[in-house]
Amino acid sequence: MADKKAQLIIEGAAPIELPVYSGTLGPDVVDVRSLTAEGIFTFDPGFMATSSCESKITFIDGDKGVLLHRGYPIEQLAEKANFLETCFLLLKGELPNAEEKQKFESTIKNHTMVHEQLKSFFNGFRRDAHPMAIMCGVVGALSAFYHDSLDINDPHHREISAIRLIAKMPTLAAMVYKYSIGQPMMYPRNDLSYSENFLHMMFNTPCDEKKISPILARAMDRIFVLHADHEQNASTSTVRLAGSSGANPFACIAAGIAALWGPAHGGANEAVLRMLDEIGDVSNIEKFVAKAKDKDDPFKLMGFGHRVYKNFDPRAKVMKQTCDEVLSELGINDPQLELAMKLEEIARTDPYFIERNLYPNVDFYSGIILKAIGIPTEMFTVIFATGRTPGWIAHWNEMISGPYKIGRPRQLYTGHSQRDYPSK
Ligand code: CMC
Repeated sequence: MADKKAQLIIEGAAPIELPVYSGTLGPDVVDVRSLTAEGIFTFDPGFMATSSCESKITFIDGDKGVLLHRGYPIEQLAEKANFLETCFLLLKGELPNAEEKQKFESTIKNHTMVHEQLKSFFNGFRRDAHPMAIMCGVVGALSAFYHDSLDINDPHHREISAIRLIAKMPTLAAMVYKYSIGQPMMYPRNDLSYSENFLHMMFNTPCDEKKISPILARAMDRIFVLHADHEQNASTSTVRLAGSSGANPFACIAAGIAALWGPAHGGANEAVLRMLDEIGDVSNIEKFVAKAKDKDDPFKLMGFGHRVYKNFDPRAKVMKQTCDEVLSELGINDPQLELAMKLEEIARTDPYFIERNLYPNVDFYSGIILKAIGIPTEMFTVIFATGRTPGWIAHWNEMISGPYKIGRPRQLYTGHSQRDYPSK
């Protein structure tokens, strides 16, 4: 497998030869695993230069703004595939044919309800709890309800868990919302598509069932597609790390949800809207941009920048187009959108942002669309989690299906040397 070799020369020691591998695409990687035998560790906080695994699922070229799932560009998937086809692709490696598509959709529909007893779980949470706090709890709790699919070494069990998670996430997400506003929880409807069903459970009530707008259902579906996977980001790496100890898939996805919650990751979509609220008016933009540039101020422009994309985020491009479509079709003239566009313009012409390659990311536009659909801000990251679920499961499954080791990073210790407990 090694195409080339690298040599590591440490002063005073013999050179160490390390294999270098080439993937299908992307930079070569140096295999440093043999270094432990030499008594050496590598140091890479934030994993800026570390490949934690081999994967066949998603490829990103951050310099060119390319995102491929199983080889297919995200722009093509967003235009031509629906979310469940994208799930199938991520999980199985190929797009489904017509028969496989129909079978997969119907299997997902068969698992959309959650155990009736799970409802009582919600009552333990305060009504004003953040929806992500409840999601961490209830998704983890699925393992207490679905014991029959917890043997991670059985491919059939892994498949059932994958189906259950993808099918039940929208139901749980809508239940969280209904709980927070005190409305009855809505059962899923299997005559609706995945995204229509989600909007039905979110916005309908038993006494008033409206037809879901196809424009909004399409926009919702596209948001799910655009969030479906993003290779080894913080939450996916968390899912893999949790899974590497042999933890069950529901517990691993709950861990991923927790990692996603932070404002530097999935929580950014909520943070963008809060930031726009705080800016309030176009006349305040300069002040906030100056704050973002100030080294002594921790404030960052939410929705800008990305660890991997140092060019445009291809998801942001599609998201912006969807945003324009949704707002114009719904006839919404949102002053926050005007504010967002002005902010984007200033940030994209300011040398600080240009020099650091800080482009608007996917979260910059998704919040505006979600707001137009009527989704409350606190639910934005829950939507991200619902969309990201197939990616998390695909990575977890890929890891469990092959040889893997428990994830156990090492450290550069800079604390005290050994010392004795003081005598009294
Ligand atoms: N506003 C102002 N300055 C920024 C921003 C920003 N949004 N993002 C990065 N910088 C600056 C940063 O201060 C640093 O400056 P300097 O070189 O002078 O020290 C430089 O740009 C490099 O940034 P970094 O923080 O070292 O980059 P990173 O790869 O560690 O962080 C990031 C990436 C996404 C965490 C960061 O850009 C950020 O916090 N952005 C805002 C939050 C956000 O929108 N997150 C969503 C990411 S997309 C959704 C997802 O995939 O999760």
